Amino acid sequence: MNDSLQLKDKEFQQIRDLVYSMFGINLTDQKRALVMGRLSKILRENKFSSFQDYINYVKNDKSGEAVSTLVDRISTNHTFFNRENDHFDYLRENAFPEWIERKKRSGKKQMRIWVAGCSSGEESYMIAIILKELLGSDLKNWDLGILATDVSISALEKAVAGVYTDENISHLPAAMKNKHFKNLRDGKWEVHDELKKMVIHRKLNLMRPEFPFKGSFQFILCRNVMIYFDKPTRDTLVTKFHRFTDPDGYLFIGHSETLGRNNELYSYVKPAIYRKEVR
Ligand SMILES: C[S@@+](CC[C@H](N)C(=O)[O-])C[C@H]1O[C@@H](n2cnc3c(N)ncnc32)[C@H](O)[C@@H]1O
Repeated sequence: MNDSLQLKDKEFQQIRDLVYSMFGINLTDQKRALVMGRLSKILRENKFSSFQDYINYVKNDKSGEAVSTLVDRISTNHTFFNRENDHFDYLRENAFPEWIERKKRSGKKQMRIWVAGCSSGEESYMIAIILKELLGSDLKNWDLGILATDVSISALEKAVAGVYTDENISHLPAAMKNKHFKNLRDGKWEVHDELKKMVIHRKLNLMRPEFPFKGSFQFILCRNVMIYFDKPTRDTLVTKFHRFTDPDGYLFIGHSETLGRNNELYSYVKPAIYRKEVR
C-alpha cells in the first residue's frame, strides 16, 4: 500500500476523537486495523493523498455528509432475523399480550415501540411480524407506531428496501418465512408491503442531547448497540431512554450488555430485559 495511506497514530487518534464525540462509538486500539481497512477504500475512491487530508475534509464539510459516510463505514451493522430469539419469545408470549390487554381495557388501542439502532431492519420487522400475528384481524383497529432508527444511512436504505438473503432469515421458522416474505427466487426474500408499512425507519443519532419525541414508548429495544459505547455514554443514554419509557414499559438490551448493578432506573426482569416499574 502507498505509504501515505498508512494510518498514523495521530490520525487514528483524530478519527477516534471525532467518532467518539459525535456518535459515542469507542474505537479501541483493537479496531485500528478495521478502521484503516474500511476507510482506505474511501481514500482511494476519492483520491485523498493521506488520512490527514481525509480527516481535514471531514472536519471542514459543513453539510455533514462526509461524517455520515465515515460512521457508515465504521459502524458494525451485523444483525439477522430472530437474533437473541428468547427476547422475541418473551415479547410474543408475555410482554406484548400483557400490554395489548391493558390497552384494550383502557379503550385506547395504541402502542409505541422504538427499535434504537435497528441496522438493516431485521429486528424492526421481527416486531412487526409478531404484532401482526398477535393482533390478527384486529390490527386495523390499532394505532401502532413502530419506529426504527439508526445512524447508518446504508443500513437504513436496506431496511426500507426490506430485501434479505437466505442467510439473514435462516433463523426464522419456514412457516414464518413463507407467510411474511415474497421469495424473489435468487436467494433473496422481500418482506411483504403490509409489514413495511407498519415500520417507520429513520436516521437518528443516539448521541443527540435530546430525542425529538413528543410521547413515550411502551417498548424500547436497544440491542447490541451500547457495546460500542463506554460506560459514561451508556449511562447517559439509559437515563435518556428512561425519560421516554412509559411507566411499566420495557427496555431490551443485548445479551452481552448490562445496565450495571447500580442502575436504579429500571428493574431487572430477565437477562437483558428491564422494566420501568411504578414505585
Ligand atoms: C450491531 S448493530 C445491532 C443491530 C440490532 N439492534 C441487533 O441487535 O441485531 C449496531 C447498530 O448500532 C448503530 N449505531 C451505532 N452508534 C449509533 C448511534 N450513535 N446512533 C444510532 N445508531 C448507532 C450502528 O449503525 C449499527 O447499525
